Amino acid sequence: MNEATASPKLPRHIGIIMDGNGRWAKSRGASRHEGHRAGVENIRPIIRATADIGVQFLSLYAFSTENWRRPSLEVQGLMTLLGEFLDREVDNLIAENVRIRHLGSFDGIANHLSHKISQAVARTQHCTRITLGVAFNYGGRQDIVNAVRHIVARGTPANQITEEMISQHLSSHDIPDPDFIIRTSGEWRLSNFLIWEAAYSEYWTTPVFWPDFTPQHLQQAIDDYAKRDRRYGGLSKST
Ligand code: IPE
Ligand code: IPE
Ligand code: MG
Repeated sequence: MNEATASPKLPRHIGIIMDGNGRWAKSRGASRHEGHRAGVENIRPIIRATADIGVQFLSLYAFSTENWRRPSLEVQGLMTLLGEFLDREVDNLIAENVRIRHLGSFDGIANHLSHKISQAVARTQHCTRITLGVAFNYGGRQDIVNAVRHIVARGTPANQITEEMISQHLSSHDIPDPDFIIRTSGEWRLSNFLIWEAAYSEYWTTPVFWPDFTPQHLQQAIDDYAKRDRRYGGLSKST
């Protein structure tokens, strides 16, 4: 979607890299799984706060294609937590008028969990207050490769492949590019999150670990965003 439609002060689409569950757990002598559980608990208040502020799209990075490199027990734990989250929250999300979209792939995900994700997407299709992109088993590079494969498979001549066409084949095809990317736990990298879509996103990071990230931190981030001067390669409006 076109960046020109984004409000200059309020991001239309925020992406959050929910990082630091492991360090949060370590800092209190808990297991990594407990850190992930606390991280999942934090999702609902942040969705609500984001919607209350008037942001229309929120994408949460929950599991990357690289996270399969973690011990299988941790990976299994993350899968279980997503399933439990969906079992518990979909009714509440419908009540709060939240539309769920899945970003990423089902490859490697157990059928029963893929089914839960698809059900959540289908059941919230009609919701209009905010769109929640759940980036689960998501990798930006893989998403771009899949898009190009689709375009090539239907016989598109090389000289007719455009940026727009690639955007339309990404898993975010019906979501505007993120205006603002927030990362918790003090890291300064994208870790393969929305790498195509974030070409002109503003970034913000905080040392706060994800389970401790509050609506107040979110507001602080959005206040900082409002001061940014987005130029998209052109000249500042004030020059
Ligand atoms: C983020 O927390 C959650 C996932 C990547 C699934 P981490 O598990 O990466 O936490 P740290 O970075 O080890 O603290
Ligand atoms: C990024 O965090 C992925 C998610 C938050 C789901 P990681 O903890 O996996 O990223 P790296 O390994 O520090 O780059
Ligand atoms: Mg991490």
